Amino acid sequence: MTEPLRDQFGRGIEYLRISVTDRCNFRCLYCMPAAGLEWLPKQDILSYEEIAAIVRQLAPLGLKRLRITGGEPTIRPNLSALVRMLRAIPGIEDIALSTNGVKLPELAAELKAAGLDRVNLSADSLRPDRIAAIARRNLGFDPIRAAQAAEEAGLEPVKINMVVMRGINDDEVEDFARLTLEHPWHVRYIELMPVGEMRALEWSHVVPSDEILARLTAIAPLSPGGGPAKGNGPAAYYRFDSAPGSVGVITPMTHTYCGSCNRVRLTADGRLRTCLYGDHEVNLRDPLRAGADLTPLYVQALAEKPKEHHLLQLQVGGLKALSQVGG
Ligand code: 5AD
Ligand code: SF4
Repeated sequence: MTEPLRDQFGRGIEYLRISVTDRCNFRCLYCMPAAGLEWLPKQDILSYEEIAAIVRQLAPLGLKRLRITGGEPTIRPNLSALVRMLRAIPGIEDIALSTNGVKLPELAAELKAAGLDRVNLSADSLRPDRIAAIARRNLGFDPIRAAQAAEEAGLEPVKINMVVMRGINDDEVEDFARLTLEHPWHVRYIELMPVGEMRALEWSHVVPSDEILARLTAIAPLSPGGGPAKGNGPAAYYRFDSAPGSVGVITPMTHTYCGSCNRVRLTADGRLRTCLYGDHEVNLRDPLRAGADLTPLYVQALAEKPKEHHLLQLQVGGLKALSQVGG
């Protein structure tokens, strides 16, 4: 098995998040301005063949796990064609998808057949009117139906991500937790990151994870551990006694987990970003289109990967919205 290439701080990088589009069918309050963003021109976006060509070059350097992200990846036509190409690349062990779930009932079986392993689904509310208010779009999204579609298609473990916002949806923290008593789903509470010039939300909306955990403990005793077997990420998991699912917290605001970072990101227009925050990125698209070997560029990029993010100091660089870098 290939050992992952290490960055300048000795962190093995084996996980690539691939954004396939910067566009989205939602306009979530914490992510995009209501009017949307200035979208990338089509010719700037990597084709599926180009994405696969990049992964084929990086897999021998120890990349093992992929996540397809956006914007909203399922709005790009024929996403299963990309999944099929990535699945065929030697060394790739796990392919996951992050989606807002709107199209999951329609696409789950097809994506599974193409070789997708699992999904993370974003769901910030279980109430239709509130879902539409947070997403600023009413597309009839039903999170329970989407999670069931994923489970039925075998896209497991199913993870549900809720961005918790004080005064907006934090009264549903317990409702989401109760889902794990009945279903083998893993609910993860994400601390709101008030990032970007376009953000509609402020620091007053951030709910620290310790507060979330304290509220969950009031439902029933929680034991640490019990999270999904497959994962790449920084979530800390807990489980209610005999619950089939788990709850977890992802804490970009109150704890840093940069020391165990295992990932890099590829933007829809082919820039390799070594940290979610800050400005460090390397253009892979133009060298790829020119027929160049990407290996030295990747090695160099990892050598320059920053030690940690500076979100707490609000030094968020040029990042306008997570939809531009795939979350
Ligand atoms: N704060 C926290 N999470 C965010 N996401 C996007 N923007 C933010 C933000 N400002 C994450 C959420 C969402 C996914 C698409 O990206 O997890 O579900
Ligand atoms: Fe779309 Fe996800 Fe951003 Fe919401 S958070 S607007 S679903 S990309």
